[in-house]
Amino acid sequence: MILSVEDISKSYPQADAGRLTVINHIRFDVKRGETVAITGQSGSGKTTLLSLLAGLETPDSGRIVLEGVDMNSMNEDKLAKFRAQKIGIIFQQFHLMPHLTAAENISLPLEILKADRIEEKTEHVLAQVRLSDRRDHFPSRLSGGECQRVAIARALAVKPAILLADEPTGNLDNRTGREVVDLLFELVTSINMTLIMVTHNLELAALCQRQLLIEEGALQ
Ligand SMILES: Nc1ncnc2c1ncn2[C@@H]1O[C@H](COP(=O)(O)OP(=O)(O)OP(=O)(O)O)[C@@H](O)[C@H]1O
Ligand SMILES: [Mg+2]
Repeated sequence: MILSVEDISKSYPQADAGRLTVINHIRFDVKRGETVAITGQSGSGKTTLLSLLAGLETPDSGRIVLEGVDMNSMNEDKLAKFRAQKIGIIFQQFHLMPHLTAAENISLPLEILKADRIEEKTEHVLAQVRLSDRRDHFPSRLSGGECQRVAIARALAVKPAILLADEPTGNLDNRTGREVVDLLFELVTSINMTLIMVTHNLELAALCQRQLLIEEGALQ
């Protein structure tokens, strides 16, 4: 098992009084190399669940164990390093650095991790997402689909244990979104990457080996 989500819950304080339970006793396991879709209506808790898995938020109760390590047992510094090494994230809004080229965006996390052979690794993933010829372009000169391919390359460059994607096609037209997702699945399959993908799109969810449905913070 690469990931064990053990009975996690998360609530937020509400404006008036009391707390809103957003994640309600969720548990599931993910095997190495498995692809899992998380689907559910808007507001059902998908992004919150992914943020918890990414270590960006902390559960109120329960545990998240990635590669045998309880993510809530680490102090902030250790968790930041663990996240950078183990977890690749792809967002709906790409989140590229506008002042860095495609290649520089990809090499940034490698530099933060003080990796070796940064240039070689960057060129390798650029070729994998078929953007070698766009390596020196800034995000403003790239199409949405190309930006998302840079974001995929950036996430994969560090060879994370797990890849998390939150509506990776949400900002793309249907055809481009499908092309990006087809490329994502081609890469994920070829390197046996573990993927958890949030999407409302049931056609995309069906590309994953397993589909989890979340309703009002609970798995159905
Ligand atoms: N930091 C926060 N503080 C308070 N409430 C929050 C916070 N983050 C999320 N929520 C609430 O939790 C619920 C679930 O939000 P979440 O973003 O996880 O939904 P989602 O399933 O990703 O929706 P969408 O499909 O629209 O992206 C919503 O009611 C939202 O308002
Ligand atoms: Mg969301």
